[in-house]
Amino acid sequence: MSDGTASPVVLGIESSCDETAAAIVTGDRTIRSNIIFSQFDDHRPFGGVVPEVAARAHVQNLDVIVQKAMGEAGFEFGDLDAVAATGGPGLIGGVLVGATMAKGISLAAERPFIAVNHLEGHALTARLTDNVEFPYLLLLVSGGHCQLLAVKGVGDYRRLGTTIDDAVGEAFDKTAKMLGLGYPGGPAVEKSARDGDPSRFALPRPLMGRSGCDFSFSGLKTAVRRKIEGLENLAPSDISDLAASFQAAVADSLADRCAHAIEVFQREQGSGHPFVVAGGVAANQTLRTTLRGLAEGQDMRFVAPPPALCTDNAAMIAWAGVERLRAGDVDALDFAPRPRWPLDPNAARAPGAGVKA
Ligand code: KG4
Ligand code: ZN
Repeated sequence: MSDGTASPVVLGIESSCDETAAAIVTGDRTIRSNIIFSQFDDHRPFGGVVPEVAARAHVQNLDVIVQKAMGEAGFEFGDLDAVAATGGPGLIGGVLVGATMAKGISLAAERPFIAVNHLEGHALTARLTDNVEFPYLLLLVSGGHCQLLAVKGVGDYRRLGTTIDDAVGEAFDKTAKMLGLGYPGGPAVEKSARDGDPSRFALPRPLMGRSGCDFSFSGLKTAVRRKIEGLENLAPSDISDLAASFQAAVADSLADRCAHAIEVFQREQGSGHPFVVAGGVAANQTLRTTLRGLAEGQDMRFVAPPPALCTDNAAMIAWAGVERLRAGDVDALDFAPRPRWPLDPNAARAPGAGVKA
């Protein structure tokens, strides 16, 4: 055990989707270990994540992954100050596996258990990697979420916008599937787009020019399908050109929505605060470049964690655990994993029509 909450040692466990992961992070922002086992081979034959297959793979692999994380960091369970695990949102079978394992370690080692909101893990990563101070504007883009949030403190989030249909990662994954690029889709689309012409196919920029900070991607996905149907056969150059055109449309659409959010955020919080991106889609270099340009044009510091800490990992869960422990906010062992768990409980269920920009 460390000297208390000054620089606590926290084990984090992540198992809410198709990554089984464990990590040790300390309060001085050091990642002592960060082990990730991606279940890509288990899900590839199905073209996407199968919840039951994911839960079984977590059961099979998690104990070894935790052991590896502890061993690499050179710690025993008794050296920990807390045990954190993703408590939701996500595929409930997987969340149960990780949270149950964390509760067991917490009970045996007599250390607090912390159930971390997976989205909070993404949201706070920039504080681990870049020491970003509150408040900041956050674009959270992952497989299941696409949100703009004002991050004002640990547990203090205001949602400025969300998607009215698909998440942006979902749009990448479905586009990849239609183009025969396989799973996981996002990295495959990015790779294919590198050789493509982003101006060959005219695709819509959903909601561009409209007021507010919400997103929409399902029309873009349908437009890609129509373009594919309009081609006689899908040559490699067609695939790359479509991937590049799709990625360019996403970049333009995100930038437009984020520009509105910057206005709202700065009106509420003042200027001089950073613009942060997080979540798996934030690993995309084209999107990072576009968003950096937007932020810097508004004199905002742009922060994007290293790609490996944008996609799901346990270091972000351990770090959120550090922050929650410091805030004195730990959980009881009867915590029930939550398949749905919004970061901003006050946000309307529907996309936030109240935000004007
Ligand atoms: O945050 P994450 O790892 O898991 C969730 O919490 O959902 O995000 C996964 C999503 C997937 O949809 C994946 O295709 C997308 O992030 N993604 C990317 C890239 N890497 C991962 N999308 C675009 N470009 C990438 N390089
Ligand atoms: Zn995630």
